[in-house]
Amino acid sequence: ESASKEGYAHFMLKEIYQQPTAIRDTVERRIDEKGNIVLENISITKEVLEKINKIYIVACGTAYHAGLIGKYLFQTFLKVDTIADIASEFRYSEHNIDENTLVVIVSQSGETADTLQALKDAKEKGARILSITNVVGSSIARESDDVFYTWAGPEIAVASTKAYTTQLVAFYLMALHFGRLKNTIELTCYEEILNELRTLPEKLQITLSECDKKAKNISETIKDKQSVFYLGRGLDYYTALEGALKLKEISYIHTEAFPAGELKHGSIALIEEGTPVIAFATQSLIYDKIVSNIKEVKARGAYVVGVTRKKNEDLKEICDEVVLLEESFNIFMPLISVVVAQLISYYTALLKGNDVDKPRNLAKSVTVE
Ligand code: G6P
Repeated sequence: ESASKEGYAHFMLKEIYQQPTAIRDTVERRIDEKGNIVLENISITKEVLEKINKIYIVACGTAYHAGLIGKYLFQTFLKVDTIADIASEFRYSEHNIDENTLVVIVSQSGETADTLQALKDAKEKGARILSITNVVGSSIARESDDVFYTWAGPEIAVASTKAYTTQLVAFYLMALHFGRLKNTIELTCYEEILNELRTLPEKLQITLSECDKKAKNISETIKDKQSVFYLGRGLDYYTALEGALKLKEISYIHTEAFPAGELKHGSIALIEEGTPVIAFATQSLIYDKIVSNIKEVKARGAYVVGVTRKKNEDLKEICDEVVLLEESFNIFMPLISVVVAQLISYYTALLKGNDVDKPRNLAKSVTVE
C-alpha cells in the first residue's frame, strides 16, 4: 500500500497533488490537432441539442457539488434552464421529464445506488442520459446514452478530490462543445475559453505549491474549534459547499457553508469571538458584495480567512489570513480555489490524528440506499 502512495503520507494528499495531471489528461485527450473539442462516447448532435428544453443534473455528495457548477455553465453557454438535484431527493419528487429532457448523471464510481436508480427512472420517462464517471464500464456508464469519462485515475481516499476537479473539467468541455454546436457561443469566445482551460494544470500546480504552507497554518488555528463556516456567493458558494463537506467528513468538525447574502437571514447569529469563517471571494462581478459580508462577520469577532485572486491584495486589510490564487476567468476560479479547501481539510484531519483516508462512518462508494 505504501508503494502506491508514491512517497505521500496519505492517498488523499497524493490525489490532491495529482490534480494538475488528472486535469491535463481529461482536457488534452478531448482536443484534436486543429484545437477543437472532440467528445468520444457522446453522440449528441446539433439537432438533439436544439430540441432539449430542460436539463437535470443528478448526483450525490461531491459529484452533486460539481453538478451545481455544471448547472451554471449550461445555463450560461447553452441557454437552457438547468436544475441540479441530489439523487436521493430527485428520486422521490415530481418532475416533468420527457424525450426533450437531458439528464446528466455525475458519479465518480458509477455505482452509487440512488444515482443509478435516478438514472433508470429518468430513462423510463424518455430522457436522454449523459453520464460523467471515472469508471469505464460501471453500471451508470452502461445504462447511459452518452458518457464522458474523467481521466482522474483510481481515487482511493474516501474524501474525493481529483474526481471532483475532473468532473468540473467535464462540464467546462461539454458546455463549450455543446454551446458551439448549438451556436449559443461565439467562435472567438469558445477559443479564448478553451485556451484558458488548457492553462489550468499549470495554474493549479502553482497554487498548490504556494498555498500548501498557508493551509497548514490555517489548520493549526481551526483544529480545536467547534464549528467552521464557509462563505461564498455565486460559483464561490458551490465551492464553499464542497469545502464544508471536505472538512466535516475527515476532521469531524461541524462545518457549514452559507450563501453570503443569506447571512443576515439567520446564520450570522452563530458567529462568536474566534469562530472561523473561510470566505471565497473570487468572482469579480460580486466581489464588493462578499467584501461587505466579510466585514459583517469580522465585526462580530470571526477569525476570517479570505481566499481570493492575486490582484485582490486589499482583502488583507480586513481578513486575518488571505490565500492568494492564480488569476483565471471567473468560471475557472472554483477549480483553483477548491484545492485550498482540500488542503485545509487534509491538514486539519492530520493534526487531529484522524484516519485521513478512511474516515469513520463513511464509504467510498455507497451502493445501498
Ligand atoms: C460517497 C463518497 C463521496 C462521493 C459520493 C458520491 O459519499 O464518500 O466522496 O462524492 O459517495 O459518489 P459517486 O461515486 O457517485 O461520485
